[in-house]
Amino acid sequence: MSGATGPRVVRTVAELRAVGGTIALVPTMGALHDGHVQLMKHARPLADTLVASIFVNPTQFAAGEDFGEYPRTWDEDLQRCEEAGVDVVFAPDVATMYPHGTDDQVTVDPGPLGAILEGAQRPTHFRGVLTVVAKLFGLVRPDVAVFGEKDYQQLTLIRLMAEALCLDVEVVGCPTVREADGLALSSRNRYLTSDERTRAVALSQALAAGTAAASAGPDAVRAAATARLAAFGVEPDYVAVTSPDLGDPGPGEARLLIAARVGKPRLLDNCALTLGADAPGNPPEGS
Ligand code: PAF
Repeated sequence: MSGATGPRVVRTVAELRAVGGTIALVPTMGALHDGHVQLMKHARPLADTLVASIFVNPTQFAAGEDFGEYPRTWDEDLQRCEEAGVDVVFAPDVATMYPHGTDDQVTVDPGPLGAILEGAQRPTHFRGVLTVVAKLFGLVRPDVAVFGEKDYQQLTLIRLMAEALCLDVEVVGCPTVREADGLALSSRNRYLTSDERTRAVALSQALAAGTAAASAGPDAVRAAATARLAAFGVEPDYVAVTSPDLGDPGPGEARLLIAARVGKPRLLDNCALTLGADAPGNPPEGS
């Protein structure tokens, strides 16, 4: 199927079933930016048909969060999907996604990894994310699904869910796309005032500072990252160093994850890093 004449918009399961061949899925909530376009471009060669879903999922927003005002930019989104070679845009309504209502008691439990970091701040968030992604996998039946590393905990949990529930979908992660000054692209960046936009660079700078301290171990990484945030007057919700699968960090490959509110929006960022073998804060070898 070709995206040359623009994507086909489908809203029902019956229309989805007409899609043939292998399928790559890029799930989104719309308000598409260059980061989404990169996900779509990455997904394009992975299957015969590229489906992008656009659905602002109510169950991943808690009361008082920005569900109502989450940006909805349908015409621009379709344009971006076309540019990225999307064949089919799946834009279901709430009744299609939640036939028993959004307070259905049958949901996906994200387990303990869903309760740390973002989950500690937003206790119902990952239940909503995993539930809607499981539904999208059931409706679209993709062979492969592509998600951004920017939401690293989300990506990790979706991978775990796909394995644990035997969903037979390959989950692929894509590197974060950044502005020239390092700010990770996010649909919520549009909430930043110009002063906040200047300070928002604190997160990527904190990742760089943390990475520079990696040989000295996780405590040094956290201290360096926190100090860089403070230099911008940014108070973090968390600065965490974990193993790549969000467990306790040891020497070697690790992940640095930061969340901070800058004005109204809560911003997230993360990066891979390599912790020093003899660093304080690392457990002794063999322990
Ligand atoms: O990352 C997002 O945009 C959303 O959490 C997702 C994966 C589309 C589920 O609603």
